[in-house]
Amino acid sequence: MKPSSPSQANQDADDAKTYEELYQRCTDLVSSWPSRPGLSYLQLFRHEKGWYNGVTLLVGTMVADELFAARPSDIVVATQPKSGTTWIKALLYATVHRREHPADAAGDHPFNSLGPHECIKFLEYQLYRADEAPDLDALPDPRLFATHAPFDLLPRAVVAAPSSGCRVVYVCRDPKDTLVSLLHFVNKYNARNGRELVAVDAAVGFFCDGVSPFGPYWEHVLGYWRAHRQRPERVLFFRYEEMKRDPAGHVRRLAEFAGFLFTSPEEDGGAVDATVRLCSFDNMVGLEATKGGSTQLTTTTVPNSAFFRRGEVGDWANHVSPEMAQRIDAITEAKFWPSAPSLIEFYEQVMVVKERSNG
Ligand code: A3P
Repeated sequence: MKPSSPSQANQDADDAKTYEELYQRCTDLVSSWPSRPGLSYLQLFRHEKGWYNGVTLLVGTMVADELFAARPSDIVVATQPKSGTTWIKALLYATVHRREHPADAAGDHPFNSLGPHECIKFLEYQLYRADEAPDLDALPDPRLFATHAPFDLLPRAVVAAPSSGCRVVYVCRDPKDTLVSLLHFVNKYNARNGRELVAVDAAVGFFCDGVSPFGPYWEHVLGYWRAHRQRPERVLFFRYEEMKRDPAGHVRRLAEFAGFLFTSPEEDGGAVDATVRLCSFDNMVGLEATKGGSTQLTTTTVPNSAFFRRGEVGDWANHVSPEMAQRIDAITEAKFWPSAPSLIEFYEQVMVVKERSNG
């Protein structure tokens, strides 16, 4: 019988005997699901929990759900694309590995040769791939991973309570800045490949309709926000705008959450500030790994420089008309205000950013 839903897909996937068979079954399933163009250079596929750009990515998510075995020491970075993924990966990696790779080690730090997306890999983009089953058991503790999946599509082992103890660090960003950053990213790809560019008004339409990678944006944020409220010791919730305002404070919180508190001698020696400087936009953008390196994400090779553009708060105002901004803000208010009163704190943050950008 032909499976008709993602839930049934999981049942069918459970029956697969080899990695190749599992991968193929998921691919066959996803290929039959509804798809449409959206704010992506790939066709977006509809999962009941969100839109995925490309079959391979959705399959990687389903296979990770089946096979990923979490450890209590694992930490998973979760974001929507263009919310600050590269930055939080750099901060987490630099913080956790600072003993063997001090942030002030200048030319010796791994970031000189590896981009943050190579240091902390995406489960669904880079690890659970068609051509090989990843050997994650061989990795030493603490293992650091990343995902763009909505909370409800995290591998079941990540959310398993409370025995796995696996922790999640989520970063969200003002939807307007996320949208503008995504539009530039997509159009850089389109320009590299001689394809037509997406116009701003079309991009806003796609975004507001939820047809963006891992969208709708608002459901993604709400999923992790609720998880954070329920289990703050397991799900850390950062905002890009607050990270920009107080990066050192966020490095300390990240270190505490990850179980790698900065000691007094480290604090006195300036280790926190060194981590902030190492991972800063200005430093990262000038590294050889950024200027000349690239990252393989599913079927696409992305130049590392594409993950850096301006790194500012409120750049949306330079690209999005006031009417478009109002449309996005109205959805944010409608989604966040009544349905999750505790997210008002986040919404107020967005408004503060908007006022500052306008003024
Ligand atoms: P802009 O396009 O607004 O400049 P992601 O890493 O999730 O793909 O997000 C990319 C966005 O984060 C881009 O935003 C990029 O410039 C910004 N970014 C990348 N590295 C950063 C850093 N170290 N500090 C602050 N912002 C950073």
